[in-house]
Amino acid sequence: MCGIVGYAGDRQALGVVLEGLSRLEYRGYDSAGVAVLTEGKIAWAKRAGKLGNLTSALKESPPLPGTVGLGHTRWATHGAPTDPNAHPHTDCDGNLAVVHNGIIENFAELRDELKAGGHLMTSETDTELVAHLLEDEMAAGPAEDGSLATAMRSVCQRLDGTFTLVAVDVRDPGVVVGARRNSPLVVGRGDGENFLASDVAAFISFTKDATEIGQNQVAEIRAGEVTVTNFDGSPGAVRDFTVDWDAEAAEKAGFKWFMAKEIAEQPRAVAEALVGRVGKDGRLVLDEMRLSDEELRSVDRIVVLGCGTAYHAGMIAKYAIEHWAKIPCEVALASEFRYSDPILTKSTLVIAISQSGETLDTLMAIRHASEQHSRVLSICNVKGSSIPRESDGVVYLHAGPEIAVASTKAFLTQLIACYVLALYLAQVRGSMYPDEIAMALDHLRAMPNAVEEVLERMGPVRAMARELAGERCVLFLGRHVGFPVALEGALKLKELAYMHAEGFAAGELKHGPIALIEPGLPVVIVTPPPADMPVLHDKIVSNIQEIRARGARTIVLAERGDEKVAPYADTLIELPPVPPLLQPLVAAVPLQVFACEVADIQGHDVDQPRNLAKSVTVE
Ligand code: F6R
Repeated sequence: MCGIVGYAGDRQALGVVLEGLSRLEYRGYDSAGVAVLTEGKIAWAKRAGKLGNLTSALKESPPLPGTVGLGHTRWATHGAPTDPNAHPHTDCDGNLAVVHNGIIENFAELRDELKAGGHLMTSETDTELVAHLLEDEMAAGPAEDGSLATAMRSVCQRLDGTFTLVAVDVRDPGVVVGARRNSPLVVGRGDGENFLASDVAAFISFTKDATEIGQNQVAEIRAGEVTVTNFDGSPGAVRDFTVDWDAEAAEKAGFKWFMAKEIAEQPRAVAEALVGRVGKDGRLVLDEMRLSDEELRSVDRIVVLGCGTAYHAGMIAKYAIEHWAKIPCEVALASEFRYSDPILTKSTLVIAISQSGETLDTLMAIRHASEQHSRVLSICNVKGSSIPRESDGVVYLHAGPEIAVASTKAFLTQLIACYVLALYLAQVRGSMYPDEIAMALDHLRAMPNAVEEVLERMGPVRAMARELAGERCVLFLGRHVGFPVALEGALKLKELAYMHAEGFAAGELKHGPIALIEPGLPVVIVTPPPADMPVLHDKIVSNIQEIRARGARTIVLAERGDEKVAPYADTLIELPPVPPLLQPLVAAVPLQVFACEVADIQGHDVDQPRNLAKSVTVE
């Protein structure tokens, strides 16, 4: 949440910062602002609303020249999305500017103290008090070394909560100082220029060389130098990495929406998520699996954690893990996990699924698990992010950047990573024969083509979106792995089309939700493959009949050639035949397309739905 960019180099900072913000806007779009160190003072501009409001205002105002600057795009926490609450925030004398991502929990007491000390607050934000705390530290400067970094280290030690802070000060020109605790911050290392950002997308068109900033660290970037220290002033240990995708990957490439592009990219993303998973000896290898075979053999229980779409991927992972690896597995919402007093031992393996690797609910959940001595394995997309850094092992998705707020290609590649991990566990623990694993891998390798086939046949889904765009409510039903797909379809429709949408396990219908069925209500049903799951298939056909008897309009996703279910479908969406456990990879796609189309028809911003942000770095 909130996108942050800082720059020190020889280019005009404003252009670099605005370009970075345009790539980070998916993190929050309630307001945007910039500040540039210019001729011994700070020039700044900020506007409520999307970045476009700020860029239009900048076109009409005098230029902000200077080669050191910062910028921010906001997802509001403290205070409404207004001009005064937009970042950057300045101190009383306008000597420094600061931007922030996160929540400062001891906000009220610090604000009272600052007010009592005569500071004038002009916003409702928690961020502004950091500007005033830095002001006091800089005023006391001579006692220390008078540097902004020293002031920042000292202020950070007074803050409770989560934060990434980035600041500039006229009294310490040439440097941009960043700090982080439980919120993301990376450095981009260029030639004679350096960057600070919430994620690498901000500087990818300038450099691919990056450095992870650790927990409780301060980074100082100058044109030719990067220095990292811990909050206590000791040298900070960091890890360099190279970004493995290009700037073009973060462009729309002719698509109207990033989401549409990311849906279309799924066959390739699924294929790439499988690359390099098999060694020369035919055995599965996982890139950053830092857990030994012995440790994995000692696991007696698995808990999969995630939020939103990642949680749905986790629900599907449970089926694969229990079926293939024969390890008892449960799935929990990361946001609920640590408050449920979970039983965790050193034989429990916790698997955290997160596209961004920064979701605070998930990060806090894995910290809790680590404190109880459980092993943590993460399934993440963004390299250099907090969750993989704090895990005992990582399976990366290799999906490239996902910019649209609604997750699509990350979901499919999370599923691939879960399947591969389940097979890996089966291999290590001997719960499957090598030829069975090889066959399952062959099925996975066929999935990019199957997803492609689904995408080529989206005509009926688009037609259905046009027909249903005016509806107020849509229900989604599924059984077995089709149930999480139903939940995912409903989530996509809610977040993009702002429509009331609910997913149910089809068998639960008669225990209450069937009361919602009324004539004409659209109900989407994910049908299991008839040959491989005959019992469940028959049951879902009965469920469909029950809702049709009450007037529902049935939209049935079913395997091509499924003649048993076809007569009960008002709209039939055919899926290519795939093994039952892998069906979510093909069944989720029409639901993504449906939600994207409905939102587009309704005139919503598909990539930046209201109230949401891509990377949820507050609890
Ligand atoms: C829905 C969506 C969210 C995320 C959730 C977790 O389309 O994108 O539900 O899946 O916020 O995010 P990550 O995977 O980054 O932890």
